Amino acid sequence: MQCDYFDAGLCRSCTLLDRPYPVQVAEKEVRVRDLLGERHAPAAWLPTLTSLESGFRNKAKMVVGGTIDEPTLGILDGRGQGVDLRGCGLHTAGIQEALPTLAAFVTRARLLPYDVPKRRGEAKYVHVTESPSGELMVRFVLRSEQALPRLRAELPWLLEALPQVAVVSVNLLPEHKAVLEGADEIVLTDRETLTMQLGGVDLELRPQSFFQTNTAIAAGLYAQAAEWVDAIDPATVWDLYCGVGGFALHVARPGAGRTSRHGHREVVGIETSEEAVASARGSARRAGLEHVRFAADDATRFATTASATASTEPGSPGTGTAPPELVIVNPPRRGIGATLAGWLEESDVEHVVYSSCNPVTLASDLDAMPSFDVVATRVFDMFPQTPHLEAMALLHRR
Ligand SMILES: C[S@@+](CC[C@H](N)C(=O)[O-])C[C@H]1O[C@@H](n2cnc3c(N)ncnc32)[C@H](O)[C@@H]1O
Repeated sequence: MQCDYFDAGLCRSCTLLDRPYPVQVAEKEVRVRDLLGERHAPAAWLPTLTSLESGFRNKAKMVVGGTIDEPTLGILDGRGQGVDLRGCGLHTAGIQEALPTLAAFVTRARLLPYDVPKRRGEAKYVHVTESPSGELMVRFVLRSEQALPRLRAELPWLLEALPQVAVVSVNLLPEHKAVLEGADEIVLTDRETLTMQLGGVDLELRPQSFFQTNTAIAAGLYAQAAEWVDAIDPATVWDLYCGVGGFALHVARPGAGRTSRHGHREVVGIETSEEAVASARGSARRAGLEHVRFAADDATRFATTASATASTEPGSPGTGTAPPELVIVNPPRRGIGATLAGWLEESDVEHVVYSSCNPVTLASDLDAMPSFDVVATRVFDMFPQTPHLEAMALLHRR
């Protein structure tokens, strides 16, 4: 992928940009193989699922810089000044097309870009997500509610200029700190969710929920997990760190487990973000899936206490499901950690699908689960042009 910003030294985020794509993929495969080593070498290495080299990122997180009349949407340079990257080639075409209009909206609504060195101003970030059908969710991260009336007043202009915008919200981040959003969200449109249509499963996305950044690769990831789970055909599944329920809803989708001796598959999704859980429940309701339940909880706490609460909390996700036959885990970069890995090791769980964005913690978590064999592993190139990757492993208890 050629990038003018990279060539001009304005942005160096894509650290692998000067490597041909096949070389990037080969290096990622070697890294995962090296980290898993002999001790976790799978019986089968499945071919890497490769990505489009550009235009694959369904989410833009743009820092607002510059001035009201000439805002920049991009990153900050070393002096804290805005660098405009609205033409960043990683983003989907729909996001690239929308960014100039969103910059014009910053001017129309008189949103003063936040000046990091001076700690002055209102507009910190614009986050944009594009669904597979081309609809957009736009979130303005502001320091306070001060500019909210002007933003509301100009909203009809924005919705006319970009009719593909389905959801607009304001996120409040009053503190001066290096995070991308705050806790409070004010939704300004009738619609509160963006629908991500993936492989026959519609995932509703509320503003503060995590979603995999590469839609095509996410679809491949969920399809691979569903294929592995269907081949095992467990009656009970947990999806820990479930986000908006991508894995859970794919393994609970209509038809999954139909050939099963069980008639249906009981699926429980656990996730700390209340917004993500609300999204997942909405998707399950719309799909008419009655055998999948979601709860906001810490994954480790849920696993280590579910058996104890199963009989005392009727209707709780733990009821009658502890321990399940199969557990899917998809943790943040820190991995599942020693406690949850140790619990899996000691439990009656027979199968684990571990989807990881950090092969270092994948390997250390597998070290803590010596009773499991790695049956198959596959790399998913979720983040081309960067060293980041997703790797998924299927584990069977020996
Ligand atoms: C890599 S994302 C995976 C989300 C989801 N599986 C998907 O495919 O979109 C990790 C998720 O774990 C959640 N999370 C972080 N810490 C957690 C914890 N201690 N317990 C449960 N969920 C957690 C995050 O909010 C995030 O949604």
